[in-house]
Amino acid sequence: MKNDPTIDIDIKRAPTSKIDSIDFENLKFGYIFTDHMMTCDYENGSWQTPKIMPYGPISMEPSAKVFHYGQAVFEGMKAFKDDQDQIWMFRPKDNFNRINISAKRMAIPEFPEDYFFTALDALLKMDKDWIKKGFGNSLYIRPFVIATEPGVSASPGTNYKFMIICSPAKSYYNGEVRVKFSENYSRAADGGVGFAKAAGNYGAQFYPTNLAKEEGYQQIIWTDANTHSFLEEAGTMNIFFRINDTLITTPTNDRILDGITRKSLIALAEENNINVEIRKVPVQEILDAAKEGILKEIFGTGTAATVNPISGFGYKGDKHELPKLTDSYATFFKDKLMKIQYNLAEDKHGWRYLVK
Ligand code: COI
Repeated sequence: MKNDPTIDIDIKRAPTSKIDSIDFENLKFGYIFTDHMMTCDYENGSWQTPKIMPYGPISMEPSAKVFHYGQAVFEGMKAFKDDQDQIWMFRPKDNFNRINISAKRMAIPEFPEDYFFTALDALLKMDKDWIKKGFGNSLYIRPFVIATEPGVSASPGTNYKFMIICSPAKSYYNGEVRVKFSENYSRAADGGVGFAKAAGNYGAQFYPTNLAKEEGYQQIIWTDANTHSFLEEAGTMNIFFRINDTLITTPTNDRILDGITRKSLIALAEENNINVEIRKVPVQEILDAAKEGILKEIFGTGTAATVNPISGFGYKGDKHELPKLTDSYATFFKDKLMKIQYNLAEDKHGWRYLVK
């Protein structure tokens, strides 16, 4: 990770801070933003000088390609503050690599690593007071890229904006999460963009998720588009199943996001001698396991959600409740992971990144 002090960044500070007006104890995920944001334009074939400026509206022509063809990708990252006031990020290089993987799939030019880390570190240092100490408090960081070129011809833009905005966060989901296994709708298809954090992957889930909400579910677990018989991912989270004491999760492929929390959990499971099977997960296997009483847990993993237990699921009109365990893997992994993130446990894998 290259943070390069020789890189120029244009910095314009906010004249005043909004921080005193924020109720940090009652944050709804993703609605409050810090004082500053980073923005960098792609023009004439190259990324220009990154700028840090007061958070606020940007202006674009109504014909900008992002509005018409959805040429947009994003990432989700978090920063944490430890008891010594040091700021840490978790595996940010993986997010950086992934935004460029997503960008490539959407014909967006890749962003340089040294610009990314230099600007991100500067932004986090400017808004460091927004990162609150304490287990569970974090700063959610949202890098994204949009095609800004005006013009409605259906072709990739020549101009782009790379931006980073930051939002203080507590938990993503409040309360219990029940999921519906998708029977008809699909999130991603073979050869498509499911693996990318393309904005449209998320927007396309809203309508079927609204239908599921009317039936009392908060999320959908998407099934494969061809047969709807294998469970894939939850859209905002990768998904894990615990049958007896074995963890099962689906392999990543071109339909499934290569989740950073997902792969961290697999590593933590292996080093804690928990058996993990990475293989296709038939809906029928989960229904049978639930019937036999050996389906102990389902949980989702993601940057925003960390590790989120699922309390029940529905399929073809049947509703299934999951047992409430005192020794759940979800709690075990969430605790292990967060202790690494907050610099409270040894970081054997070199996952932590100190913002300097
Ligand atoms: C994340 O976990 O960062 C995500 O991208 C999920 C999000 C859509 C809130």
